[in-house]
Amino acid sequence: MSDPTRPKGPKIIAVANQKGGVGKTTTAINLGAALAELGKTVLIVDIDPQGNASTGLGIAPEARVKTTYDLILDDAPLADIVVKSPKGNLYIAPSTTDLSSADIEMVANEKRSFLLHDALRQPAMDAYGFDFVLIDCPPALSLLTINAMVAAHSVLVPLQSEFFALEGLSQLMLTIRELRQTANSSLRIEGVVLTMADRRNNLSQAVENDARAYLGDLVFRTVIPRNVRVSEAPSYAMPVLDYDPNSRGAEAYRALAQEMLEPKVPVGA
Ligand SMILES: Nc1ncnc2c1ncn2[C@@H]1O[C@H](COP(=O)(O)OP(=O)(O)OP(=O)(O)O)[C@@H](O)[C@H]1O
Ligand SMILES: [Mg+2]
Repeated sequence: MSDPTRPKGPKIIAVANQKGGVGKTTTAINLGAALAELGKTVLIVDIDPQGNASTGLGIAPEARVKTTYDLILDDAPLADIVVKSPKGNLYIAPSTTDLSSADIEMVANEKRSFLLHDALRQPAMDAYGFDFVLIDCPPALSLLTINAMVAAHSVLVPLQSEFFALEGLSQLMLTIRELRQTANSSLRIEGVVLTMADRRNNLSQAVENDARAYLGDLVFRTVIPRNVRVSEAPSYAMPVLDYDPNSRGAEAYRALAQEMLEPKVPVGA
């Protein structure tokens, strides 16, 4: 689906937080699925050696012949890597554990921070007509995550509604600020999304209040609740939107996609 107001090429969003287990992969899969339901064509780029986004969308390890390792380190053409997920309009560039050596292999390359940036701007991208590219980052501020933030127009930060949630955030914000002064001057923060929230729980509510007090409009109004259907869905190789379309988790990710598509005033870090 083409949008005449959109600049040429997809909007590229890095889903990043160096803290592990905060909902990056869950958000990449389900926000991607929700955008696909809205008629957008979406590519999820899995750059986590754990390959959770690939598994969660039903791409078996033996089916991952060429992966984001080849894309980033071997100039492999996109057509060899991108596979269609069972959900129409939703595509994935899968990863495998091969990527765990990528950081070391990239260090010697003088373009080391720009490898994913360049790979996602190969002419073949146009043929797919992607509206959005969501990059699922590993839980580290590693060279892979830096590649994602250099390739991206914006960073989407899942924040788990839990004690210590805000602690790692200043390091992430600092990295984004540094990248703006160096490799990616137009990098924006797409927003912070609270995940696994339990509004009956005082601590979860306190984290939300703190996040809104410190980060203001950067925090999405939509909050993703803790919902067992969300955690079950990947073992059925489906986004929760397909696994249980009426679950609270599915509804929340649909609301997040709608909110993301709203026109908004640009905000800084
Ligand atoms: N809204 C939710 N409700 C219930 N469980 C959830 C929810 N979001 C995520 N989870 C579960 O929490 C765990 C961590 O989520 P996820 O894998 O998305 O985090 P991550 O940030 O990608 O982790 P990593 O840093 O290891 O890549 C998973 O088991 C996932 O199923
Ligand atoms: Mg993950």
